[in-house]
Amino acid sequence: MTDKLIIFDTTLRDGEQSPGASMTRDEKLRIARQLERLKVDVIEAGFAASSNGDFECVKAIAEVIKESTICSLARANDRDISRAAEALKPARSGRLHLFLATSALHMEKKLRMTPDQVFEQARLSVRFARNLMADIEFSPEDGYRSDPDFLCRVIEAVIDEGATTINVPDTVGYAIPELYGHFIKNLRERIPNSDKAVWSVHCHNDLGMAVANSLAGVKIGGARQVECTINGLGERAGNCSLEEVVMAVKTRKDYFALDIGIDTHQILAASRLVSQTTGFVVQPNKAVVGANAFAHASGIHQDGVLKARDTYEIMRAEDVGWSANKMVLGKLSGRNAFKQRLLELGVAMESEADINNAFIKFKDLADRKSDIFDEDILALVSDESAAHANEQYGFVSLSQHSETGERPQACVIFTVAGKEVKGESDGNGPVDASLKAIETHVKSGAEMVLYSVNAISGSTESQGEVTVRLQNSGRVVNGVGADPDIVVASAKAYLSALNKLQSKADRVAAQG
Ligand code: KIV
Ligand code: ZN
Repeated sequence: MTDKLIIFDTTLRDGEQSPGASMTRDEKLRIARQLERLKVDVIEAGFAASSNGDFECVKAIAEVIKESTICSLARANDRDISRAAEALKPARSGRLHLFLATSALHMEKKLRMTPDQVFEQARLSVRFARNLMADIEFSPEDGYRSDPDFLCRVIEAVIDEGATTINVPDTVGYAIPELYGHFIKNLRERIPNSDKAVWSVHCHNDLGMAVANSLAGVKIGGARQVECTINGLGERAGNCSLEEVVMAVKTRKDYFALDIGIDTHQILAASRLVSQTTGFVVQPNKAVVGANAFAHASGIHQDGVLKARDTYEIMRAEDVGWSANKMVLGKLSGRNAFKQRLLELGVAMESEADINNAFIKFKDLADRKSDIFDEDILALVSDESAAHANEQYGFVSLSQHSETGERPQACVIFTVAGKEVKGESDGNGPVDASLKAIETHVKSGAEMVLYSVNAISGSTESQGEVTVRLQNSGRVVNGVGADPDIVVASAKAYLSALNKLQSKADRVAAQG
């Protein structure tokens, strides 16, 4: 006998809360489409009331995604809930996710409310939400550090008001697997109407135990929904990682005895897409999706795997999408093959003209690089959609001169609001000179807090993918750029980060 484990993905909401991971509407739509292909049960698309931009993203995702339930987070107040319900109107299946802190610390210091006030607000907010939508999730924020007696009172009341899912967040990543599992079990046993709701786990990874805690919440506590993110993206040390939790439950079905609706073949594509979009590089030894996750280096292991795969492998690389990562296109590939690959990668281009532009860039890349991998195509499409989004800054061309013993010089031509400008500078190295050349015009004053280069597909022939993290006036953004020339990739990444800083500043200004 098995029952189903619901996979609730919050990459676009909790994941986006990591510093610098903010995404544009198009980027979120692309990720949402991949999550739908992955057959995620619930997609938390954003926090509609937090900004006009977030509202539009939730709405746009609710309009196009048909196979997954679309959810918006909302504080437990009428304004937030109405706004979230409005954004979710186009959804075929929508969910409101209300949260209100219940730990003594949060109630006293953050909310400045008494427990009785919190109890009342929780109850009334669910009552209000239930009039707008049938599918209501309630999260007592910092639930794991809350007094169990108080939590029982609140949860019983919100289930009575019609909450259909109860999520118990370990907001600060403080839990220990066995204790968290028993915490949930205890709540379910004590609350008389607990069987009227699906129980859910939501664990942060501050002590590196988010996946273990979530699994304990399922196995010991009886939770039947796991909240997680692709690559474990999230604030601080991140959230429970979707790929790990899914593969644990699938691989150890003998132990968990649960069904999962996820199409695991789509896992790697989702991981790559999120990493390329946010600039959060996946560590090589990351379980399931890291470059080394299925690489056997030691002779003994290689020998064993060749003789019988299961000597050292508990999962098949192809089952999580590794074999799909083959070289797909090259110089001789035609427009139709390119268009077909875009479809397979879930990239929806708005018009034939957009496909033509992307195809021209693809041909240009194929002239410089013989093997074009999926990652190359995704990087190229990101570039194309940035250009399409009428961003403030756009890369045009770059020349630089560097020679041993001489100070490098760079000249970068780029657009500012559609108008070409030229910046020139020297620097410590060609990358430094190029970014300084851009700054001679932009004068952003932003501080660079991270610069990293990654080879997209392994060899030196690969495109370099550069991530630049900038910080300015309390805002942190990541820009990503790809090109076979890493100096060009760096300039693109820098301009992309400047665009994100600009759009964040615009959003703040728009909110007054
Ligand atoms: O970590 C947390 O408590 C949350 C809630 C809003 C569910 O993300
Ligand atoms: Zn969270």
